[in-house]
Amino acid sequence: MSSIGDVLPQRKLLSNVDPALLHSWHPVARSTDVGENPHRVTLMGEAWVLYRHEGEIEAFVDQCPHRLAPLSLGRCRESGLECAYHGWRFDHSGQCIEIPALPPEARRPERARLSAAAGITERFGMVYLAPRTPLSPPPEHESVVNSRFQVGELPIIATRASAGFLCDNFIDLAHFPFLHASTFASEDAVTVGTAEISYDDHGFCAIYEHEFANREDPGVQSGLRPLIQRRKLTYQYHAPFTLFLTIDFLTSGGTNIIGFFVQPVNEEECVIFSTLWRDDLGGDPQAMKSAIEFERAIIEEDLWLQRQMPSLVLPLDPTIEVHTRADAMTLALRKVLRAHLGRFDQWNRHTALSSSHSAMSAQAQTRLRERDRSQPTREKAR
Ligand code: FES
Ligand SMILES: [Fe+2]
Repeated sequence: MSSIGDVLPQRKLLSNVDPALLHSWHPVARSTDVGENPHRVTLMGEAWVLYRHEGEIEAFVDQCPHRLAPLSLGRCRESGLECAYHGWRFDHSGQCIEIPALPPEARRPERARLSAAAGITERFGMVYLAPRTPLSPPPEHESVVNSRFQVGELPIIATRASAGFLCDNFIDLAHFPFLHASTFASEDAVTVGTAEISYDDHGFCAIYEHEFANREDPGVQSGLRPLIQRRKLTYQYHAPFTLFLTIDFLTSGGTNIIGFFVQPVNEEECVIFSTLWRDDLGGDPQAMKSAIEFERAIIEEDLWLQRQMPSLVLPLDPTIEVHTRADAMTLALRKVLRAHLGRFDQWNRHTALSSSHSAMSAQAQTRLRERDRSQPTREKAR
């Protein structure tokens, strides 16, 4: 198994539609949004139709092979997906099983079949899709399946942004006192200390302790605790665009986990999904509603700036931007992304070599279906 350090830093830039990302797992919907009717999503400029059959999600390129109409305009029948235009029907493997304009005994064209996603799975209430053969496993997070947590989902945000820069921003500690002065940041805690960073094959974990203004703590209003408190931040990053932040409140007690899942829609747009797991709200739905609003306000502070970034291409080459030691985590992100994309480059070279020896590319036909081992909590805030 390769490690982060083995892969050469060949990549200089990352756009939302870098072809290497076709081989990654991307969040494309919440599990609750995909039911028995077709659900359309767009990933890296390509539209997909998703639907659920016997509990499992099927995902196909959202294009009928007949006249290229969006299949998501059609409907799901017991036997499969029916196109809205001429009623061609496709079974759950994507094979055409009926062309109403032809007599039943007529031969159906061989090319009358749908292109399935190489991978589709569900994790922590999210649907993850890999358009082409995934070169890394989908993300995991053991803590969020723990039933002690109350789960809250933020409204889905669609915005002009770079998926790379959004992830960079999520783990950037130095911006807190400037962009987040009116929500959680303490103006006295400007200097960024050292985070402990440990890498795994597909991401990293960074632990950092700092002081912050705990405006959510009722103990502050009652005079029980000071406004400025300590907390431990544990960032878990899984390439390319999945992040978790676990916040352990060292002064007031309790744990919050924030999931941040970014779907690169096209060159200029992203969809942001965010979920909260909290053990400090006593099961109170109103308290969770306030927590969601608070988190949403923080994200909006970030998006005010992210929407206005002149370039939506994240530099991966550390010589393009100026970094300081306060940027250790955002440098780690670039390092992991270079390795992640480098795996695609290696795979691409290997595939080109193999296909020159064999006309058959078995990999192009491989479909991986994974079910989440633990099928995370189905408890939802709505
Ligand atoms: S376009 Fe789908 S059946 Fe004709
Ligand atoms: Fe921020």
